[in-house]
Amino acid sequence: MKPLGPIPAGFSVIGGELAIAGHTASQLAELAGDTPLFVYSRERLDARVAELRMRLPPRIGLNYAVKANPFAPVIAHMAGLVDGFDIASRGELERVLAEGIDGVRVSFAGPGKRDSELKAAIRAGVTLNCESEGEARRTLALGEVLGITPRIAIRVNPSFELRGSGMKMGGGAKQFGVDQDRAAALAREIIAAGAEWRGWHIFTGSQALDADALIETQANVLALADQLARDVGRAVPKLNMGGGFGIPYFHGDQPLDLRRIGEALDTRLRDLPDSLAQTELCVELGRYLVGEAGVYLTRIVDRKESHGQVFLVTDGGLHHQLAASGNFGTVVRRNYPVAIATRFDAEPVEEASVVGCLCTPLDRLADQALLPRAEVGDIVAVFCAGAYGASASPMEFLGQGPARQMLF
Ligand SMILES: Cc1ncc(COP(=O)(O)O)c(C=O)c1O
Repeated sequence: MKPLGPIPAGFSVIGGELAIAGHTASQLAELAGDTPLFVYSRERLDARVAELRMRLPPRIGLNYAVKANPFAPVIAHMAGLVDGFDIASRGELERVLAEGIDGVRVSFAGPGKRDSELKAAIRAGVTLNCESEGEARRTLALGEVLGITPRIAIRVNPSFELRGSGMKMGGGAKQFGVDQDRAAALAREIIAAGAEWRGWHIFTGSQALDADALIETQANVLALADQLARDVGRAVPKLNMGGGFGIPYFHGDQPLDLRRIGEALDTRLRDLPDSLAQTELCVELGRYLVGEAGVYLTRIVDRKESHGQVFLVTDGGLHHQLAASGNFGTVVRRNYPVAIATRFDAEPVEEASVVGCLCTPLDRLADQALLPRAEVGDIVAVFCAGAYGASASPMEFLGQGPARQMLF
């Protein structure tokens, strides 16, 4: 038997079923028209942002990294909750603008920005977090062609990393950002060229659950921003301190101690150097904001046995929830939090594997997990599905079609 990940706190039971935003899994499937479906909860999004506002110093702005969940109603809802949006492509820019979000609230990071993307961002007043000298120079040149002063920040590749993060994006040779020892020279060039200088973006990694590692990284980020500012000879207008706040996906994972992070940050902010005294500060969060607000619901279409093992075969799978199948950046496959939504309060009595409908052994949503006995027609819930689910899975694979999505 293999343990399941921890179900995020706060889900309720109605009539024996998992309830999300006051509706049972069966009702949600009926409202959506069918399974498989992703349900995102407004309530849970609101609660998460409220918790961050309470724990982090008020001076720290909250940016939403749209890549975590670009579903239009989620973006629209986040517009009323967060301060800024971080995008990684022209597609994300279009989604954000379509929700009426002003480009000045948006910054654009990510390697390989094409001229057409840079132009669209400059026109919209978006801050470009330039990832290289070449990209910064193209941005300056395109600004001149368009007759618009571009807003430019530099994404810095710091020499330190975020300890314990699931994905490291700083420290050593990386395709992200400008190495820290070349960043000041580039900033001077950008300022001399007449661009609107927006400061630094220092994103070191994601999915960290260790508060000490995040506290240490935030201290390093502030120190680096100060050092760079002194090298440039300019105070920092804005510092995007990165994010990396993780959520518990697997057995044994502990939730992040946000209170300690907030307290440590508060202490640091009381003693900032002159170069950062007036700086607009923000963190950039994706999964921490939306991950636990989403549940993937998929119906059991077959129950079978093979060599004494039970398989619950669903109408969903890795084409919607690649991460839960263990094929999105994990080395060792472990079970996500999974439950039989239509028997949410039933005792677990049997070992079963929940698999998808794709013809590949990789398509496993839960492997040899202890679950209540489930039958054809029951609905399985995969939790922590609000981030990197629908938009980070190979939806076209094997022609099974996309999942429905609802914000409720
Ligand atoms: C630049 C940048 N910002 C934000 C994120 C979002 O990370 P997470 O969803 O873990 O908060 C990532 C993730 O890769 C990233 O590369």
